Amino acid sequence: MKNNPVIIAVCGKGGVGKTCVSALIVKMLSESSSAKILAIDADPAVGLSFPLGINVNKTIDDIRNNLIKRLENGDRTNRDELVKLLDYEIFNAVEEKENLAFLAIGRPEGDGCYCQVNALLKDIIKDLAGNFDFVVIDAEAGVEQISRRVMEMVTHLLLVSDASLKGRNVVGTIHRVAREKCSFEKSGLIFNRMQDQQEIDAVISKTNLPLIGTMIENESIRNFDREGKSFFDLPPSDAITYFNHSINAFLNKAVDI
Ligand SMILES: Nc1ncnc2c1ncn2[C@@H]1O[C@H](COP(=O)(O)OP(=O)(O)O)[C@@H](O)[C@H]1O
Ligand SMILES: [Mg+2]
Repeated sequence: MKNNPVIIAVCGKGGVGKTCVSALIVKMLSESSSAKILAIDADPAVGLSFPLGINVNKTIDDIRNNLIKRLENGDRTNRDELVKLLDYEIFNAVEEKENLAFLAIGRPEGDGCYCQVNALLKDIIKDLAGNFDFVVIDAEAGVEQISRRVMEMVTHLLLVSDASLKGRNVVGTIHRVAREKCSFEKSGLIFNRMQDQQEIDAVISKTNLPLIGTMIENESIRNFDREGKSFFDLPPSDAITYFNHSINAFLNKAVDI
């Protein structure tokens, strides 16, 4: 059991590319090392399973619903038994593919407050993270999971923005709230979906956040994402190589690429 995994949360406004960035990080980590990686789709808008080429059978929301049903049906299992059952269900919900494990929060459709699922997610991160070298969390858009301390254990806060003022404002807010509520070691920003160098220069001059790198709007990524194809099959490109180097520097040269 490893006690100090690198836990990366990928945060930002909706549509800026959190899921694509998360998938590219997971791809780099799992292709370039034998490290054990846990990828978590923590966005109720769901989507990380597609670029990772993973089928989801059970989500955290499913587990929560089953538990509620059992309790409503008068299940008299004691608390310790329930905790064991929960552990077993979570273990079952983790999909595995070589050195990669995957878990999705799911899209809550039933009644009840969504923060219960977030609370469960927080405990799951705490329980599972120690079994992995890297945990990559594709976070819900906005600041909610940060302000509710779901991301408390995160060591690397990775902010993603597009060129828009809205995107830049959201990462600014997330960073500010995270400094209050989480104790991450490092934070940094990726400007994604850039049009050209002129746009890159313009947005870089407008942020005070530490810059990890920039990513030009990339045709292969757009096409693969449109078709729901696995990013593991993306053709090599300068853009991805540059992205990998930027992320690796952010993670303190975590793996050989
Ligand atoms: N670097 C990129 N190049 C091309 N398209 C991208 C890139 N990053 C994201 N996209 C596209 O932008 C849209 C939103 O990306 P997504 O990762 O789903 O954002 P989020 O998870 O933040 O909502 C998708 O259609 C995706 O294909
Ligand atoms: Mg997403």
